Amino acid sequence: MSDWSRAVSNHPAEDLATPVNTITGNRGLQIEEKLIFEQDSPGHCGVDLVDPRPFRTRLGGLERQGAIGLPGLSEPQVVRHFTRLSQKNYAIDSGLYPLGSCTMKHNPRLNEKLARLPGFADIHPLQPVSTVAGALALIDTLAHWLKTLTGMPAIALSPGAGAHGELCGIMSIRAALEGRGERRSRVLVPESAHGTNPATAAACGYAVDPVPANPQGRVDLGALKDRLRTDVAALMLTNPNTCGLFENEILEIAAAVHAAGAFFYCDGANFNAIVGRVRPADLGIDCMHLNLHKTFSTPHGGGGPGSGPVALAASLAPFAPLPWLVHGAGGLELVEHKSGPAEHAIGRLKGFHGQMGMFVRALAYMMSHGADGLRQVAEDAVLNANYLRVRLGADLSLAFPDRCMHEVLFDDRFLKDAGISTLDFAKALIDEGYHPMTIYFPLVVHGALLIEPTETESKASLAQFAAVLKALAAAVRSGDAARFRAAPRLAPRRRLDETAAARKPVLRWRPEPSRVLAAQ
Ligand SMILES: Cc1ncc(COP(=O)(O)O)c(C=O)c1O
Repeated sequence: MSDWSRAVSNHPAEDLATPVNTITGNRGLQIEEKLIFEQDSPGHCGVDLVDPRPFRTRLGGLERQGAIGLPGLSEPQVVRHFTRLSQKNYAIDSGLYPLGSCTMKHNPRLNEKLARLPGFADIHPLQPVSTVAGALALIDTLAHWLKTLTGMPAIALSPGAGAHGELCGIMSIRAALEGRGERRSRVLVPESAHGTNPATAAACGYAVDPVPANPQGRVDLGALKDRLRTDVAALMLTNPNTCGLFENEILEIAAAVHAAGAFFYCDGANFNAIVGRVRPADLGIDCMHLNLHKTFSTPHGGGGPGSGPVALAASLAPFAPLPWLVHGAGGLELVEHKSGPAEHAIGRLKGFHGQMGMFVRALAYMMSHGADGLRQVAEDAVLNANYLRVRLGADLSLAFPDRCMHEVLFDDRFLKDAGISTLDFAKALIDEGYHPMTIYFPLVVHGALLIEPTETESKASLAQFAAVLKALAAAVRSGDAARFRAAPRLAPRRRLDETAAARKPVLRWRPEPSRVLAAQ
């Protein structure tokens, strides 16, 4: 056993029973931080601005009457505030982030450098087209790569996230069906799907019909065929699916969907497992969103920014949202209105062209990897997940024994009778310095633990992670339930009331009544 793993397994549990109280409330160099409004020292300001020269207002009486209510802080206070907040955040730049279905992989710094080039970062979306030829060429090149990798003839780049891409895809499908004079009412969604899939179908006015999984964690083909009637607009399938498995009957699934006159939508959020190896068009897919922020490594999390381009088959291309970038006689041209070739477009889904910064990063990622490098990405993502599957298969309980794709799924059978829940087990990882894996998703597995190591983790990093999980599983077997139920014991905050946080979130700071009176 290495010094490192000994340190992990010989946790001084007795010390933790006594809470450490400090004078400041800080722990070690973890500094408690008040809200910026609570740090208000009225009159303080980080900048000295001269009073503006008198000017004529054109607000017609709509001028603000009172103070805006921003807190007064000096520059060092602001810097410390945001630095301390950033130190509370766990990020892929801090360590392994095995959150299944999220593809938290390293974002190469080269991409950042290129995204900051003034020709991309400083342009304005309303600049005349003739002054942004380089940016348009970049968008066109990105579209070319995405079309090549998916095998699809058209790509809509503007959607701002995976879920937004789903909306784009299902709206295009609805428009295509309406173009055929058909009003279909149901969308089939496998039980293992990401929650955004049924939400999208429902938001577009469809009834969501769940398709059960078979015992191998894949779509039950018989159950799917039973549901495929003439009122089905589309099947929304994720491939590889959220159990981390390739849908190996996908060609039959596509044939059945098409035979029913429906469209085959694929949630391509997990494309990093197959990029460069399989072209979705060859699988019979009509429409698929890609999460640039996952597969092509642009920073994400914490609400964005994301980018969810949608690849479209020829039958759906006429309905792609505006704007379109087309090759005209004079070079690249923007089609911004529903007329001419874009007569059937579903309209605009987003202001301007989409997430330009993400486009630059994604293309930088693709071009620096090259076609062979992208294929290697998929191979390494699958290899890393399978490394963990094999290392941990005897300690945690594998939901499906088969070889997996980019993520490996465990269920809670290994916790049975130990009085420890999946949540307890995941929280214990925080004490060990790891962000937990995704838990309780997908729903088709009891007490799911979904681990996605991603392709950018080294073997050493995965070996360490596996050693920690093995040690924790050994603690489960030894009956050390207290350790898990109390976790996290070492984080700046202990366990939160997650139900109250979700149901009764406090989203707005209000000043103490005494402060309001004092200010009046
Ligand atoms: C399988 C799957 N589908 C859809 C989404 C939604 O993507 P986004 O969070 O960009 O809206 C995700 C997000 O990670 C996902 O994993």
